[in-house]
Amino acid sequence: MKNTTATILAQKQKGDRITMLTAYDYSTAKLMDESGINCILVGDSLGMVMLGYDSTLPVTMEDMLHHTKAVTRGAKNAMVIADMPFMSYQTSVYDAVKNAGRLVQEGGAYAVKLEGGAAVCDRIEAIVKASIPVVAHLGLTPQSVNAFGGFKVQGKDEARARELIEDAKKIEAAGAFMVVLECVPAKLAEIITRELSIPTIGIGAGAGCDGQVLVYQDMLGMFSDFTPKFVKKYADIGEMMKGAFTSYINDVKSGAFPEESHTFAISDEVIEKLY
Ligand code: KIV
Repeated sequence: MKNTTATILAQKQKGDRITMLTAYDYSTAKLMDESGINCILVGDSLGMVMLGYDSTLPVTMEDMLHHTKAVTRGAKNAMVIADMPFMSYQTSVYDAVKNAGRLVQEGGAYAVKLEGGAAVCDRIEAIVKASIPVVAHLGLTPQSVNAFGGFKVQGKDEARARELIEDAKKIEAAGAFMVVLECVPAKLAEIITRELSIPTIGIGAGAGCDGQVLVYQDMLGMFSDFTPKFVKKYADIGEMMKGAFTSYINDVKSGAFPEESHTFAISDEVIEKLY
């Protein structure tokens, strides 16, 4: 069944938890889609896990479009949400609508995600008016890493906790249909989840959210630069990959690969004529 804004909202209402993972390429998106994931996020985390930057700040619209196109070709039923990269919506409402439109029209995304609360409500309203579903992102918003002074849990003191609750209400009023809560204390995320009628998706925000998201390289053990506390490793694919690469290197060096079965035949008659 195709996932839409209506089915996602119905999941919150029924208490059926929403599943989301990031993906950045066709074959991974296809595997996730076939596994029955609700949503695939083409996160600007691709800057770190795919492109090797130390933050999401260098990611461009062209990077996002390139990866979003690949993911949408692989996802039949999952809702594909594309991140709006740094400086694609902060500059003006016009830029926000224009760039959200590109992610849908050129990239094939169903919805876009942008970071921030009250400060981006005018952007959310304008994008929604252009008939593009919007996911908001509150708490640790990685595009503000320099303003925060690092990757830190958000909302631990009363003032900031109140601000996050207010921001959540404002982005809902502005028209966002879902919100990601990143690195927010679990009890605060529970309050926000109760206060909103739109679904909350947690990452480092506890089990009280309406759904969860993880970066797929983190949950598969494929990214070792750093592993946040909130990640659960479901497999150690990184070690499996290294084992397979080493076996391949050894086989090529020893001549064990390729075997007869990996080669193409030609008739002896043809070969004789070549001498
Ligand atoms: O870019 C991303 O992958 C994200 C998730 C961590 C929510 O925004």
